[in-house]
Amino acid sequence: MKAIFEKRDETNPYTLLLLHGTGGNERDLLPIADMIDKGASVLSVRGNVLENGMPRFFKRLREGVFDEEDLIFRTDELKNYLHEAAEEHGFDRDKVIAVGYSNGANIAGSLLYHYNNVLNGAVLLHPMVPRRGIELPDMSGTPVFIGAGKNDPICPPQETEELEASLMEAGAAVEVFWADQGHQLTREEIDNAASWYKKVTKGE
Ligand code: MLT
Repeated sequence: MKAIFEKRDETNPYTLLLLHGTGGNERDLLPIADMIDKGASVLSVRGNVLENGMPRFFKRLREGVFDEEDLIFRTDELKNYLHEAAEEHGFDRDKVIAVGYSNGANIAGSLLYHYNNVLNGAVLLHPMVPRRGIELPDMSGTPVFIGAGKNDPICPPQETEELEASLMEAGAAVEVFWADQGHQLTREEIDNAASWYKKVTKGE
């Protein structure tokens, strides 16, 4: 996969896995990584799928309707890539926290929905429910931050609530922050994600 890896503060054990939204690339979320944890290493990946020239992490049939077969295949591909990248760059595979926006949040959610202990935590910015009708792995102790929009036309509030409930039922510790700027990221949302991150990684 095409990706950027940056080792930053040598004493910081965490790696942020950055996953952009549809039409984005591996540079998009670098400023957000700085706002969340300047010292963490960064592995920022570009989605392997192209939709009319726009990079994505998996195919969709139309807006909001995922191609499940491709989602499963791409989720497995990303999980394997994470193992390979950890070996290549020497980062701690058990200290990877995903930060995904929109389509990137959906593949991060899909990692959590399909594999046990695949992420140490996740910041899901405007995510949807990645799959329905499957049994989720045990997520006991996995902290998840969800940034949502009360008026997000792509991820309506009921879907955020459904995602929160299913993650919690699987044992994850979920915190939801609501903004009112539709599907857009807000400064307040990222500030809240940064506070959540400090709390879960440093106990602050
Ligand atoms: C998706 O396809 O993952 C969602 O519709 C969000 C997006 O527009 O990328």
